[in-house]
Amino acid sequence: MKDFSGKENYRDFGNLKTRKNFYSKYCNPLINSKEEVFKLLNIKGNEKILDVGCGNGDFLAYIEDKGCSGEMIGVDISKGMIEEAKKLNIDKPISFITANAEDLPFINECFDIVVCKHILYHLNSIEKGINEIYRVLKNGGYLCVTLNCMYGRENIENFKRIIANSIKNNNFLDNNKRINFENYNSFISGFNILREIKLHRYLELEDPEPIVEYLNSFRGFWQPLPPDEAWYKALKIIKEEIIKIIQKEEKFKADLAFGMILLQKI
Ligand SMILES: C[S@@+](CC[C@H](N)C(=O)[O-])C[C@H]1O[C@@H](n2cnc3c(N)ncnc32)[C@H](O)[C@@H]1O
Repeated sequence: MKDFSGKENYRDFGNLKTRKNFYSKYCNPLINSKEEVFKLLNIKGNEKILDVGCGNGDFLAYIEDKGCSGEMIGVDISKGMIEEAKKLNIDKPISFITANAEDLPFINECFDIVVCKHILYHLNSIEKGINEIYRVLKNGGYLCVTLNCMYGRENIENFKRIIANSIKNNNFLDNNKRINFENYNSFISGFNILREIKLHRYLELEDPEPIVEYLNSFRGFWQPLPPDEAWYKALKIIKEEIIKIIQKEEKFKADLAFGMILLQKI
């Protein structure tokens, strides 16, 4: 059965770090998603908060710096991510636990807020994960979800298909197609939708190298991991494609927009 968790890709923080650096260096305007989610949640300060799929723990660290003093817990299925989160936040009163979002190790109705930043599309059963989040949230508690938008990034998504053809392996995680800002509604039940905010971030590059490096960070989403020779050959083809686009249109453009949704448990 296909595993959507991106185990190989998220073995450690390296690939996610490459992508985070790419968004902050090359996208315009620069969007601080931690700040946007913090503002949207309108946190009072002492709420008990769970970050599901917390990665390196940067969201909880950020809101702790902003003065949040309630109990904060980050969970991630990747041991490597949790090790990184613990290492980076050794001086902070935040707990980091290795756990699967589809089977959360918490009692019913114990959190005021749950955050899911760019994770729902990694769940093998999105329905199970949402049911678990519903279970651990208090009645009236808030859930903030961030998801990618489908439109604007077609050229980059198309590169993943070119890579798949080149390495003759179609078995890659096409996560944005599963659940995204445009279709998430059909997965949500038991919550009222309070706010939906779309955030555009435009990419305009005259140099192919950063896009190639960005795409290289997705290698672990192919199952099995593509062998070196085939992979680097595919990246060479992609680089040539990008150069053609830049020669024709002066710049390589995309809109790597994402959306935030604020929900309340009914
Ligand atoms: C795109 S990263 C987002 C990390 C972080 N939320 C952020 O915004 O930087 C997705 C994270 O979800 C984690 N993940 C994937 N499947 C999971 C699951 N079933 N349960 C918990 N975490 C999971 C991955 O290990 C990875 O750290």
